[in-house]
Amino acid sequence: MAAKPISGPPRHVAIIMDGNGRWATMRGRPRLFGHHAGAKRVREIVEACPDLGVKYLTIFAFSTENWKRTQVEVAGLMSLFRRYIAKEARALFEEGVRVRFIGDRVRLDKKLQALMDELETLTAKNDRVNLTIAINYGGRDEVARATKRLAEDVANGKLSPEEVNEETLPKYLDTCVLPDPDLVIRTSGEARISNFLLWQSAYAEYEFIDTLWPDFTRDVFTALVARYGNRERRFGGVLG
Ligand code: FPP
Repeated sequence: MAAKPISGPPRHVAIIMDGNGRWATMRGRPRLFGHHAGAKRVREIVEACPDLGVKYLTIFAFSTENWKRTQVEVAGLMSLFRRYIAKEARALFEEGVRVRFIGDRVRLDKKLQALMDELETLTAKNDRVNLTIAINYGGRDEVARATKRLAEDVANGKLSPEEVNEETLPKYLDTCVLPDPDLVIRTSGEARISNFLLWQSAYAEYEFIDTLWPDFTRDVFTALVARYGNRERRFGGVLG
């Protein structure tokens, strides 16, 4: 890919929303209290996107590894997702947000799956901001599921082995209709990508910031987007 200096805002920002548990513990409250506070932040950040020129926002809500948490926390998060979708659907629709979900839905309860399908359908014609919520998502799991479908297409003659390359494989990923992220942000001071958008973030810029997710305001987001504009992206090349 050709080298190019950054011009303009990041078109696609992906966020690993970390630190809800610590935020709650610091206040002597249960971890779910932090997740509820974190969920409230999502609206503020989605609403900031059009002004900042961010067209795609992808957020990591629940990973394939998060099932290892206590049963109380997992059930609480699933209930939070159900309530969040039911409560926010109308506002998201009216604000012109198109919502998509990525991740393996099969393990999610049927009620949650139905709410996810309904919200995708309700907002399918919107285009002001594209919000993608990753639930039961893992980058390796996504690549494995994609490879399985790709192998099926090779086996039944829809695709030849010679056609398998960097352009065809991403068509099988959950993110097939999204551009690659330009900027990946992780809150809470951890400098890890934790299996998030592994294929898609190969050339992304990263920001690891100390702020805990429930404290991640529009101002913090705005500052990171502005800082992105001062970077140079080289995509493995050199700047001319
Ligand atoms: C990580 O914090 C956060 C999660 C595993 C859940 C993310 C969920 C939300 C922000 C709320 C719901 C989102 C939507 C879209 C409704 P952590 O629990 O790992 O925090 P810790 O590292 O301090 O323990």
